[in-house]
Amino acid sequence: MGLQPFRRILVTGGAGFIGSHFVRLALEHDLEVVVLDKLTYAGSLLNLEGVLDHPRLHFLQGDIADPAAVAEAIAGCQAVVNFAAETHVDRSLLEPAAFVQTNVWGTMVLLEHALRTGVQRFLHVSTDEVYGEVLTGAAREIDPLHPRNPYAASKAAAEHFVFSYWTSYRLPVLVTRGCNTYGPYQHPEKFIPLAITNLLSGQPIPLYGDGLHERDWLYVDDHCRAIWTVLLHGQPGQAYNIGASQHRPNIAVARAIVHLLGADPASIVHVSDRPGHDRRYAVEWSKLAALGWAPRTSCEEGLARTIAWYRSRPDWWTARRDEAFAAYYARNYRDRGTPVTQP
Ligand code: NAD
Ligand code: TYD
Repeated sequence: MGLQPFRRILVTGGAGFIGSHFVRLALEHDLEVVVLDKLTYAGSLLNLEGVLDHPRLHFLQGDIADPAAVAEAIAGCQAVVNFAAETHVDRSLLEPAAFVQTNVWGTMVLLEHALRTGVQRFLHVSTDEVYGEVLTGAAREIDPLHPRNPYAASKAAAEHFVFSYWTSYRLPVLVTRGCNTYGPYQHPEKFIPLAITNLLSGQPIPLYGDGLHERDWLYVDDHCRAIWTVLLHGQPGQAYNIGASQHRPNIAVARAIVHLLGADPASIVHVSDRPGHDRRYAVEWSKLAALGWAPRTSCEEGLARTIAWYRSRPDWWTARRDEAFAAYYARNYRDRGTPVTQP
């Protein structure tokens, strides 16, 4: 396939964290981009600032689980990239039903319409969490899925439906399984922005359990380039892991953020652990490397860039942080016996 096969693509969840960066990347190419986003607590038109009035961007507010909204959004599109999802593990432990509704049922509605309209590519953005915890080594795409929390279970269930549309109907699907991603515009409920914005607000970093849980940290631009690579060059019916080879235990990430912000090391506070907390994620990503992709941003460089952005954008994160506290942090920590203080 040549380098620009699509004239119009549908990006669901394009007003969220990774989706909004992907929309910017897609607009650098000569494409019409339709964004379908429900604008949940996690989505915002502010995330598309600078491109919202781009002549090739068409924004539709709507739910991927709503057939009428999907029918309108997908019309004339040759490709779909599905970012739309409920994405926070801690919220999935409190309210799993919303994760089934959007992540599983919403994906089904998209698949049905993609089949009906005959798209050339259906790229489903999944996660390395579908493998469950990987205590040693690294998961390969052929490994079985063992999701262990409601978020991961909903993402794995969605993947099974996606692949069933390949085997049953030959819908040209692709799946990416990215590792933990960070960067500007990430909601302050997630670990790295939570740590940064807490320190900037004079609050401690709550570190779950012993802090030795390990994640592989991928800068958002690298994740978006990986998805673009798979969209253009991936083989239908296949999954592609996206790793950064920047594995760090959470305590090391917290210490790096404390150091970069010149904060007091005592601002890292151990709190009770997340139930069913996966100890380690790791993926083997040579299949994607064979398509010509490699990450470009080290964890240190990415953290410095991310911190600089959050320092300059309290207007973006303050209200989100307050809302998350009211809606969820307080309940999350109270239920787990951790003292709660208003941020
Ligand atoms: P996010 O929570 O920041 O954004 C999700 C977006 O989807 C929001 O704009 C929200 O409004 C929208 N949305 C939610 N429900 C919807 C619905 N029913 N219909 C339409 N839009 C809806 O998420 P993110 O971190 O940008 O993640 C994007 C995708 O990447 C998700 O599928 C996630 O599972 C996957 N992923 C994320 C990471 C990560 O570390 N953030 C890593 C790997 C994979
Ligand atoms: P998170 O950003 O929720 O991503 P995921 O659970 O999908 O990997 O969390 C990243 C890691 O940080 C995870 O091991 C849980 C941990 N964590 C904390 O220690 N404290 C926190 O306040 C949060 C939100 C996460």
